[in-house]
This record gives sequence, structure tokens and C-alpha cells, in this order.
Amino acid sequence: MCGIFAYKGYQTNATELVFEGLKNLEYRGYDSWGIAWKKNQQIQVYKQVGKISEASSEPFAEQESTLAMSHSRWATHGAVTQNNAHPHFSSDQSIAVIHNGIIENYQEIRDRLGRSRFSTETDTEVIAELIAEYRKTMDFESAAKKACHEFEGRYAFIAMSQEDDMLIAARRGSPLILGVAAGEWFLASDIPAFLKHTREVNYLDDDQMVVIGEEARFIDLLSDMEIQKRTVTIDWTEEEAQKGDYDHFMLKEIMDQKETIMRAINQNEEEILKIAEYIKKARGVFLSGCGTAGKVCMASEYFFSIVANRHVNFAPASEFPIYHHFLIPESLLIVVSQSGETADVLEAMKVAKEKGAKVLSIVNVQGSSIARTSDFSLQINAGPEKAVASTKAATSQLSLLLLIAYAVAGRLEEGKKLLIETASMINDMLNPRFLKYIKEVADAINHSEHTYIIGKAANYPMALESAIKIQEVSYIHAEGFAAGELKHGPIALITPGTPCIALIAEDEVRQDILNSTMELKSRGAYIIGVSPNMHECFDHWIRVPDAGIASPIVNVIPIQLLAYHLSVLRGCNPDMPRNLAKSVTVK
Ligand code: AGP
Repeated sequence: MCGIFAYKGYQTNATELVFEGLKNLEYRGYDSWGIAWKKNQQIQVYKQVGKISEASSEPFAEQESTLAMSHSRWATHGAVTQNNAHPHFSSDQSIAVIHNGIIENYQEIRDRLGRSRFSTETDTEVIAELIAEYRKTMDFESAAKKACHEFEGRYAFIAMSQEDDMLIAARRGSPLILGVAAGEWFLASDIPAFLKHTREVNYLDDDQMVVIGEEARFIDLLSDMEIQKRTVTIDWTEEEAQKGDYDHFMLKEIMDQKETIMRAINQNEEEILKIAEYIKKARGVFLSGCGTAGKVCMASEYFFSIVANRHVNFAPASEFPIYHHFLIPESLLIVVSQSGETADVLEAMKVAKEKGAKVLSIVNVQGSSIARTSDFSLQINAGPEKAVASTKAATSQLSLLLLIAYAVAGRLEEGKKLLIETASMINDMLNPRFLKYIKEVADAINHSEHTYIIGKAANYPMALESAIKIQEVSYIHAEGFAAGELKHGPIALITPGTPCIALIAEDEVRQDILNSTMELKSRGAYIIGVSPNMHECFDHWIRVPDAGIASPIVNVIPIQLLAYHLSVLRGCNPDMPRNLAKSVTVK
């Protein structure tokens, strides 16, 4: 959801600094943006509808300031207008606030303070108004603390005061990270905002506040006591967070898969074996995640079943709470999340923990809320993933879960060998000729309004994932099916020329899925076969290496590329699909 970024330090171009840094968070929200800064003891605000990446820094060039904050919005409450864009002022203009999350009791607070004091449709305005109200009779820090005690819902906010030369920020349920350098502080919802300036960070936990004046002080909002926080050095580099020579982050991140599988499986073996033992001993293992990460979980159900002869249950995180009847202290919930901040996943974890169950998380973002609040956590080490469409994170998650399935089966070395070979095959596959061919396939189906994808066994969830990829970046109606289900309904949708993609592996179900593909072909479908081997029914053959049980990892990559090209051909921006945000921190 929304991106927030603030600076306090000695650099006098704070407005330009937050303007540039915020561009790195645009993937979190891109319907409008705004900046507040202090100049001559006055708070100035500038906001606009549209993408910050398309805006000029000109309004900030002459603004000498050492204190500034910025926000890119993904609207939840209130239409996409300049007035609803953040920062928001209190009615007396003494406090300005940027916010990510939802203040659920905002109507109640508005009623109490008087509706005439509010001029936007947002929930955020109550944060500024309530702090300003309390600031009339107490200092800024006490006013902010008192206000926090009244907010219900999720928030990460940063507040600036006309009277005080400080920034105050607090979090509950939405990410907030403090970057620290000598005499400088950077507050952001994600690390890429300040990676250029520092890699030393303090992660704020729920119900914590940071007050940045001459120095940074942390406060636990539950006890109102000052606390110490550990500084962590993060291992992402600035280059990793840039798109380099690529036109889009999505393409760059697809190509990163030449290396990311190896990074995902490069884990501490003792840790993997310990986790495998835990899985073996657990009474009931659940897998959960959202969207693409959910499809990864679903494919992993097959991995655990086929490789380790273990039954694990998948439920999308938004549905998981209903499973609470089955949870006991001996249960294990495995959650998968690229961002490590997805609200539905955090909620699933809460439900599991309330029943005393243990949680293992598989995340990409180091120090994220999900990583920090699970009992065991593994990182996939894919580097920053900034395109909204998840690509390299998904294949890394699949690789790590397949490795764990092998560890559970007592065949860790065999799993490692398979995945090393798969990584090398992916490296070969992503060659210029292959990329050109996928573009040709995209050209051939670019004008279609519907696409169907079929798969079987672990490639069935990948058919669902392929549909997500095509939908979210190209806006073509795409649906994935279990191949065998076609004849029970969906085949009625096929008309001559309808593009249908079949994800095929050289496994025991190959003939079954080929039969389903032939059934589609007989109804006039235009067949794109993703397969190690050619078949006469293919109109296009996307040749992929034979990766055995790891085939879902290999098969999904050409569809990521296909979705990318469809997006570009149709004039869309693959990095910032409409209505979506990279990290979904609201329920
Ligand atoms: C995938 O391309 C999506 N953008 C989306 O489904 C995503 O996978 C989902 O929101 C989960 O995010 P997470 O991995 O950060 O938890």
C-alpha cells in the first residue's frame, strides 16, 4: 500500500532528497503523491495527482530545508484527488501527517472533534487533527502518544509540527523502518527509499514510536517507556534496487532469475534439517500466502506429497482464519510472502499463534514484520522485487519449498542437486533467442480478449499463477484450470482461435494433459505448449528444459515473459498495474 519517506539531518536539500527517495517506493502506491517540508519554521505542502516518476523536481529546487516527508498514495478512503493526497494538515495547520494503513475509528474521532474541522474524505486527517488538539495543552511527543492510544486499526504515520523541530513516527500493523547515518535519519515504509544513504536500520515493531529531534529515541506505546533498539546492517545494494538498462523492473526481475534460484537454495543446512524435523513432528502442517505466494504454497502441497509423502494443507491467507478449529499447539503454519508485510498473512499468523501453533515464514524482505514475528524464518535472498507482479520471488519461494520437501524426505542432497541443475537450465533458457520467441508469441495473441491456461499436478497452481500474471499486467481476461476440469465446464468457453496455454512436464501425468490439450485443439483453440518436447497439437511450442519435479519453476518463467510483452504491446505499464499495490498492508 502507500509509501512513506521522511528525512531529518544536515543536508539542506531535504525536499529533493525525499522526492528522489520516494520514487523508489512508487511501487507501493501511485495514484497521487505529496511532500511536506519545513522552511523558516513554516510547514509547506505540495501535492499532486499522478505518478511521482513523471513529475519534475523543479518545485523543490530552491527549498532550503533539513526536514521533509513524502507520501505516494494507494487510495483506501476517499477518491484519487489532490485534496485527498497526503500530507494532511490539521485544521489550524500546526501539524502535518503522512500515513499508511487505515484508522478504523476515524468517523468516531471526526464526530467527537467536530466534522466541520475536516476538509478531506480520508481517515488520515484525524491523526493530524487529534495530535494538534492535544498539542494545545502538552508537548508534541505527549500529544502524539496520547493520540496513538485512541487510534484503532493499522497505521504507520509520520508527523511534523509547526512549533517543533522534530519528526515523530509510530506504527501498528504497517511497516516503518528507520535508516540511520551520522546526524541523519531516514524513515520509510521500505528500505529502497534510503538505500543510497545508509544500510544501517532499526525496525520499528507494532506499538512503537520514534521521536527524532537532536537524536532518535524509541518509545514503547503500551508502557509509554523509552526502549533501546538493535541496529541491523542490511545486505541489499543500491544497484539491486535499480532497473539498470532494462525498460521495466518486471523484465529486470524476470532476468534476475538467472541467479536467484541459486541464492534461494543457498541456506544453512542445519537450519533446513531442523525445520524438516519440525515439519515431520508437527501434527497438521498448513501452507498459506496471498496471490502469487498463495499459488506457490499450492504447488508446494504437491511437492510435499510427491517428494516427502506428507500431507500439508493450503489455504489462502484471507481464508485461513476459518481453519482455527483444526489448529492445536502441535500444528505448524508455513507462511510465504515476498514483502513480509501482507496484512492477511499477518492475520493468519495471529490466528495460529492464538492456538499456540508455531509459524515458519519464507520471506524476501529481511526484517519484515512477518519475518520478525514468526518462530522460524527463512529468507529467499532474491534482492529487491519492485515490479508489482511477483516473478523472481515466486520461483525462489518454489525452489526453497521444494528443497525443504526433499529435506523432509531425508534426501536434501538430491534436492539440492536437482535445484542446482534447474538454476543452470534457467540460466541457459533465458537467452536472446528464447526472449525473442516469447515476444513473437505475445505478438500472435496480443489482440485476444481471453486466454486460458491449463496445468496438472504441481503445474495446475502454476496455471492459476500464470493467469494472475497475464491479468494483472496486460488486463487480458485470463483463467487457469486443472486440465482435467475442462470437460466439466470451462471447455464451453472455447471458440475458434481462443489462445490456450498448456503447462506440460515430462512426468506421469504428461499424457493426461496432452489429452486435454487435444480436446481444446479439437474445439479450435490456438495452442501454446510450454513443454520440454514438441507435440503436433501445438501452434506455438515454447521449449523449456526438462526439470522433473522442479518443472513448475521452469514453466512459469516463459509466462512471466509473455505477460510482460503483452503488457507492453497493449500500452500498459507492467511495473504499475492499475488498482494494484506491491505490498497489501490492509485487510
Ligand atoms: C503477484 O504478482 C501479486 N502482485 C500479488 O498476488 C502478491 O503475490 C500478493 O499480494 C502477496 O504479496 P506478498 O508475497 O508480498 O505477501
